[in-house]
Amino acid sequence: MSKQSTKYQTTKLNLARGLRFRIGEDGNIYASISSSSGEFYIAPEVLTFLCFLTDNNKVTDIDLIPNKIKKQYNNLLNNIPNKEECKELLNDLIGAGVVISSNAENSRHLHEDGFGDPWIQWAMISDNMRSNAYFAALKQVLTNHSIVLDVGAGTGLLSAQALSLGAKKVIAIEETKIAENIKPIFTKLGLETSAKNFILHNTNSFDVEINEPITNVVSELFGNDPFQEGVIPTLREIGSRFVGKQITYIPNKVSVFFNLIELNNHPVLHRIKAFNKLKADSNKINFTEKFMHAAASKLDLNSISFPIALNANDFKYLAKTCALGATRLDPPPVYSSDLTKHPLYGKKEIIIEEDCDNILAIIWFRVHLTQSITISSNPKEEDACEHWSPIAIPLKKLLNKQNKIEIKYQLSEQENLFCCDIYHNEEKIGSR
Ligand SMILES: C[S@@+](CC[C@H](N)C(=O)[O-])C[C@H]1O[C@@H](n2cnc3c(N)ncnc32)[C@H](O)[C@@H]1O
Repeated sequence: MSKQSTKYQTTKLNLARGLRFRIGEDGNIYASISSSSGEFYIAPEVLTFLCFLTDNNKVTDIDLIPNKIKKQYNNLLNNIPNKEECKELLNDLIGAGVVISSNAENSRHLHEDGFGDPWIQWAMISDNMRSNAYFAALKQVLTNHSIVLDVGAGTGLLSAQALSLGAKKVIAIEETKIAENIKPIFTKLGLETSAKNFILHNTNSFDVEINEPITNVVSELFGNDPFQEGVIPTLREIGSRFVGKQITYIPNKVSVFFNLIELNNHPVLHRIKAFNKLKADSNKINFTEKFMHAAASKLDLNSISFPIALNANDFKYLAKTCALGATRLDPPPVYSSDLTKHPLYGKKEIIIEEDCDNILAIIWFRVHLTQSITISSNPKEEDACEHWSPIAIPLKKLLNKQNKIEIKYQLSEQENLFCCDIYHNEEKIGSR
């Protein structure tokens, strides 16, 4: 194609369908395409540019954009990028997957970090409990007529399992660069990768057109906080395409649980013990401890939570396991805008059954792959997976037998974070 004809070729530019904006507490605007790839800052001129693209998605000459923006917005805006900035911005936005271009020459710079990192994928595929449970679940439901959609395929494990179990066809969607390994892995395994049997979309699921008559949707979109990868919005959007169709979803549900535990042995034990004692009488302590109290009163330690890698013998329960709630994933329904109606909204009371030297709250989850096959993130459970960790919430108080605590919980507005506050006698002692 000559230079001349390239210049006047019309390129269709659409915003990624999964693009979401959020106004931060600092007044800035942040955006994300999917929960698994995180949030990024949107400068005012980028927002202007994106607004323009929303209204004018056919572009013949990028050089004309700044003048068109000025005209269209009646000179009301002062953050208008110049010609050079427009070109760079467009490349960056296409590269980041924020803008989807119809021109094949403009391509995404696929993520190499996060799930694009081979070591992260290795953590998942080396988790035998998880892999074998998925294999068994797929075996229960697939036939040689099955057309399987694998949402968030990673290295292609679940697609490969489906093909090896005789599925007629698999359509895999994976947004990161790791997808480049899928076909070479399949070839090594002797699995068919022709378009008749296997189709790979290396982009975000919100931007994929699906034309095949899907019979099964399989996915594993869970982090240590089961919602952090956006499993609810992602599967809800996928489900919205198949309304009225008979589709089997693996998994079909995720449930969330709460426990109070005593750590016996763990590298973070000293931090937990010190945190529990923060409210203790500070008159009888030495200088080092006084410093710790002073620091604790100034550092923001009010909302601490972190994934804690635990072995089953590292801890004991101090109270009965408390089931907090569950959401369907087959697909997730649109819940009421009234947060209090969400199945993961509520409050529960827990009574401590044993005295203890230290105390920690943990949140963990169980994924229901089928009616009979489950996997969980709690190492004391029989269905525990190896690569997930419970979320720990240290408590700013040492509690005793018969003490009652209350947990109030809900999902974040975007349904991609489990949030809770923990109280003792109405005093907040932990939070996420
Ligand atoms: C937890 S990993 C599981 C990978 C693989 N299915 C497995 O079981 O080994 C989730 C994968 O989904 C991808 N992913 C998450 N959300 C996605 C989306 N909306 N569209 C495409 N890929 C997505 C991530 O990049 C990641 O590789």
